[in-house]
Amino acid sequence: MKLKSFSPWEDGFFDNPYPHFARLRESEPVHWSDAFDGWVITSYDLVKEVAISNLFSSDKLNLLFNRLSSAQQEAMSPMLENMRYWAIMLDGDAHKRIRTVLNKTFTASFSEGMRQRIEEICDGLIAEMQKKDSFDLVEDFAYPLPAILIASILGVPEDKVEWFKGVSGDISKVFNLASNPDPECAKKCLVAVMEITNFLKGILSKPEDLIEGTLAKSLVDSGLSENEIISTLTLMLVAGHETTTQLIVNGIYTLLNHPKEKESLINDFSLIESAVEEVLRYESPVQNIARVATSDYVLGGVEIKQGQKLVPFVNAANRDPKVFKNPDEFKIDRSPNKHLAFGFGKHLCTGAYLARMEGAISIKKLLQAFPNLRFAQEGQEVKWQRNVAFRQMESLMLKG
Ligand code: HEM
Repeated sequence: MKLKSFSPWEDGFFDNPYPHFARLRESEPVHWSDAFDGWVITSYDLVKEVAISNLFSSDKLNLLFNRLSSAQQEAMSPMLENMRYWAIMLDGDAHKRIRTVLNKTFTASFSEGMRQRIEEICDGLIAEMQKKDSFDLVEDFAYPLPAILIASILGVPEDKVEWFKGVSGDISKVFNLASNPDPECAKKCLVAVMEITNFLKGILSKPEDLIEGTLAKSLVDSGLSENEIISTLTLMLVAGHETTTQLIVNGIYTLLNHPKEKESLINDFSLIESAVEEVLRYESPVQNIARVATSDYVLGGVEIKQGQKLVPFVNAANRDPKVFKNPDEFKIDRSPNKHLAFGFGKHLCTGAYLARMEGAISIKKLLQAFPNLRFAQEGQEVKWQRNVAFRQMESLMLKG
């Protein structure tokens, strides 16, 4: 029997998307959804096939903007300008040019250089939380941590960090526009992009002041143009802020809901890296990676037409029973665990090393500082956001 067209806006999808994905995967792993105006992909193998193939384009600028009116698009042109060189939106040689530089500069050792800074930021935030009876994990910890860290990476001075946190949050909302073209949100994104663009132009106008070892300095030395550098540094913010926030929040939330796993972790922190991998699989912060077919293609026996949109859900792939034994079980020592939370193929996340480090350091420090960490109220309801791009909650009230 043909399934009814899938819409994330119905039937409690955001509270628990996984039974919806299981139904789709079992009968139509390549499923046409009117709500997405595209093909929703839910099986591991097919999500991977789309991520690898050169026949699917990442050029999603049109997808993001064609739902806005032409007057709105005109008004948003500074944003389009900034997004023109976002690696995540580029194909072929244009992507390779930026990606090669990112691979050379944003290395594991570059990220390792941030370890001490991450620890300092965590300690500072935790010290403030310890003064409170209860706290919001999102607002008091998981939102500021990656923002302050990226501020350090970009060379934002201390006195501008508060400004930067706000701007970073507003820019991150850009991916919501594809599913919810809210003019207010679009306006906030635009203002934030213009502010960050001006700020980065200021930094780049004095190349002699750029500090050796910072990302901006490495990108300048790599020979990229000013527009490419501004684009790339802005993408770091968009791609690296709220995703990491959600890794930490989803991680703590899931551990609190699995007390045995939480205890095992507290008793043996050598499991922290593997626990972070399991959080990435079990509650993947990024839900899907959109693509556009550049030619006709048969995917899983279904004919995709040139120009059609595909929405491969990595969080559905990460619960595929063909790849993960008992996929709905949360097991901090799961092995193997080849999840797709960071994507796959050419666009595999360049920030994965840093994100894993941030996740591991912060979850460990939180559990060490608050061994009795619990929900602020028993039976507390969690409100997952109605956001198809990210698996995220706006707040998580806890007691230490
Ligand atoms: C838990 C945190 C994170 C998750 C779940 C995540 C997830 C992803 C995913 C799924 C992609 C692939 C998108 C696609 O194929 O279209 C991606 C790409 C990317 N991510 Fe992340 N990310 C995270 C953290 C970060 C951080 C911390 C940074 C940098 C500061 C970063 C920078 C990037 C960049 C630059 C790309 C584009 C790579 C390319 O297109 O070649 N990410 N990320």
